[in-house]
Amino acid sequence: MVILHISAECYPMAKAGGLGDVVGALPKYQKKLGDESMVVMPMYATPFLQKNEWEVIYKGNTNLADWFFDYTIIKEKTDQLGFSLFLVDIHGLLDRPKVYGYQDDTERFVGFQVAVVNWLSHWTTQPDRVHCHDHQAGLIPFMMKYCYDYDVLKNIKTVFTIHNAQYHGAMGWDKSLLLPRWDTWKHGLLEWNQSINSLATAVKCADKVTTVSQTYMHQLRFQSAGLESLFEYEQGKCVGILNGIDNEVWNPATDPMVPFHYSIENFKEGKRKNKQVLCAKYHLDMDKPLIVFIGRLVGEKAADILPGAIQHALDKTNCGANFLVIGAGDTATESALNYLTELYPGVYNTYIGYDEKTGHEAYAGADFLLMPSRVEPCGLNQMYSLRYGTIPIVRDTGGLRDTVTDIGDAGGFGIRFLHASEEDIVYSVERAIRLYQDMEKMESIIHTCMSIDHSWESVVSQYKNLYESI
Ligand code: GLC
Repeated sequence: MVILHISAECYPMAKAGGLGDVVGALPKYQKKLGDESMVVMPMYATPFLQKNEWEVIYKGNTNLADWFFDYTIIKEKTDQLGFSLFLVDIHGLLDRPKVYGYQDDTERFVGFQVAVVNWLSHWTTQPDRVHCHDHQAGLIPFMMKYCYDYDVLKNIKTVFTIHNAQYHGAMGWDKSLLLPRWDTWKHGLLEWNQSINSLATAVKCADKVTTVSQTYMHQLRFQSAGLESLFEYEQGKCVGILNGIDNEVWNPATDPMVPFHYSIENFKEGKRKNKQVLCAKYHLDMDKPLIVFIGRLVGEKAADILPGAIQHALDKTNCGANFLVIGAGDTATESALNYLTELYPGVYNTYIGYDEKTGHEAYAGADFLLMPSRVEPCGLNQMYSLRYGTIPIVRDTGGLRDTVTDIGDAGGFGIRFLHASEEDIVYSVERAIRLYQDMEKMESIIHTCMSIDHSWESVVSQYKNLYESI
């Protein structure tokens, strides 16, 4: 079977969040299972683009309303990611350093999708399944079925995966001119609340819809920023498939970004040495439990309540733990987090920004990872942390519920709390400190964490069954 993934992100070419990690790994493991799997994404001006060699696969032209443009499809020459990576180059529109955050993002991603369907309609090897990810590829199933010029694509089956339903890619009806000539009898498929809604359109038009955990699939019917009734109605074609993680990239025994390698056999020594490095770098106290937060500083991740919660936890426990916060996002949260460094030197620090190395070092050196997310479709960080023997402290929602069992329950290996509130975080921090004081128990839990398998190998067959079920 030939599978083509269409996405705005794919690590290491471009990553803004977990979407990039998933699209950068899933195809590799699908290929290992014997299928042909490829990715097409926009050509941004990223370091990965500059560092690698590319060959031109196709040159075409199409239009966005009355703007006629040329586009080029290029492919990374060596398939170094373990699969073929194609980029769409639209000069002036996509070739910018960032993935998102431009005023004309609507035109950029519609332009990307229009170029992709145009290319596909000229391609000799057509895929058996087109697998679109998030709203930036959400109009593709509609275009393949109902745009006159792309009739040749209408029998190719499509799957749409939701990594985040907070963003819909909604646009005014004036933007309908950007779409290639389409069957106007089908306008109801584009429409949601008087707008064109890319996410809703994908849910209506794709043959199957998935999201990245079963709990989140269920929660979408109650909390999806206005699409609840749609998910209720379409539940027959929706399934939750939990993400995997790339165990080759995320392996504390070989990870080149981790100062001291370790495995389940010698984690005690390995984690201690990594913690020493981390504590020295951020001026933290080696003898106290180290709790890290790694993620975008946005409301979905409940980053806004972190400064208050950390302050309360430190006061209430008489600085019984260290905190390290790594991430960037809302400026008010960033400055509140920075301010805490002045109040709690020696037990608190923050790194405003994100790079892969800082993340990997933190998973290796920390004792606990805190994820108080308000919304978490799957969450990859808790799975990385399990693999690195860092005990997850998570809110009971979405994929966090599906991957973390509380230490109070049979076989439990994490700390779970109900509300994204300061009180619940403080209480969970107190539980973590108590656990840390019982080293024997702590070590047996770390052992359990590190033995949990979230590898893609066990996930790809679920996608395969889904593709075959269409
Ligand atoms: C998004 C979600 C996250 C999920 C990831 C990959 O970033 O917020 O929960 O793990 O996509 O599917």
